[in-house]
Amino acid sequence: MVVLGIDTSCDDCAAALVKDGKTILSSVIASQNDAHAVFQGVVPEIASRLHTEQIVPVYRKALDDAGLTEADIDAIAVTARPGLVGSLLVGLSFAKALAFARRLPLWGVDHILAHLYAAQLEAEISYPFLGLLVSGGHTILAKVTAFDELEVLGTTVDDAVGEAFDKVAKFLGLGYPGGKAVDHLAQSGQSDAFHFPRPQLKPGRRPYDLSFSGLKTAVIHQRENFLRAGYDNSLPNVCASFQKTVVDMLLALVKKAVKETGISTVVLAGGVASNSSLRQEFSRVRTLTAFYPSLPLCTDNGAMVAGLGYHHLQRGDRSSWELNAESRVPHFKSFQKSRT
Ligand code: KG4
Ligand code: ZN
Repeated sequence: MVVLGIDTSCDDCAAALVKDGKTILSSVIASQNDAHAVFQGVVPEIASRLHTEQIVPVYRKALDDAGLTEADIDAIAVTARPGLVGSLLVGLSFAKALAFARRLPLWGVDHILAHLYAAQLEAEISYPFLGLLVSGGHTILAKVTAFDELEVLGTTVDDAVGEAFDKVAKFLGLGYPGGKAVDHLAQSGQSDAFHFPRPQLKPGRRPYDLSFSGLKTAVIHQRENFLRAGYDNSLPNVCASFQKTVVDMLLALVKKAVKETGISTVVLAGGVASNSSLRQEFSRVRTLTAFYPSLPLCTDNGAMVAGLGYHHLQRGDRSSWELNAESRVPHFKSFQKSRT
């Protein structure tokens, strides 16, 4: 079954063709980074308008790259939640129109589950596993028990990890989005040059919740203080120390979850999963087996949507024409099974 997967949940316009939930025939992503960089963040109105311009060429290129025609598409999967509503609606409207015109089955996919599926396009991974989604919009640690079922163990209570990278990068004048630039500079820095606090949450919170906004503030203040006092002003050292703190926090959380759940397979996902230090440190831990997607599958893409969508569509799941965009989703156990 050839599934067309579409993702317009944020600022990447993506379409892919995937066979049987596994073989990527093509995957096209039109980035909007340049348009949003001026504002140092995603402007929802600009994002949705750009999606309307990008969606048809991106879809056509996906067909061309795969060497297929419209008639070869068997079904359509499209991200319906969570995300920016205006952006999601562009992908949804396109998917519905194509499904209606060509009488194809349609399924509205959950973006979180799709990210956590991405690694399965490249490796056989058995359930259950621990899924760590670290992106610009999400930081979620979950126990994933099936392609459509997860139990959230913890989330960030404020900034997402990628957001913290982007805010630190913005402060350091490294451009937007800045995670990649921080990662790059960190490679020539000393990770023990600065000692940043690891934010502790008040008792009563879920044991796997995290906070990153205090760390971001600490980086900004400490650097200002050091500069004022004439001490270390090395950008690579700040980046390496900040990055190490983030990686240590995530690794400690996952090690705790491995110990307490007895699940030792960990699947990373999201833009920050492309961070070189994160990948290196997770690979080093002998008590866990880490999987992370290749770099193009870490960030938003249509292949993960088509891959996950295949399993729903093959089971007979169908969305109706009433399928709508949702900005937020309560991620509780079995949440996806009750949806159509
Ligand atoms: O998954 P993604 O493309 O979009 C969202 O759904 O949010 O993630 C984008 C985020 C941005 O915050 C970006 O700075 C971060 O991923 N990122 C990185 C790296 N590459 C991208 N963060 C740290 N290190 C990287 N190498
Ligand atoms: Zn995403």
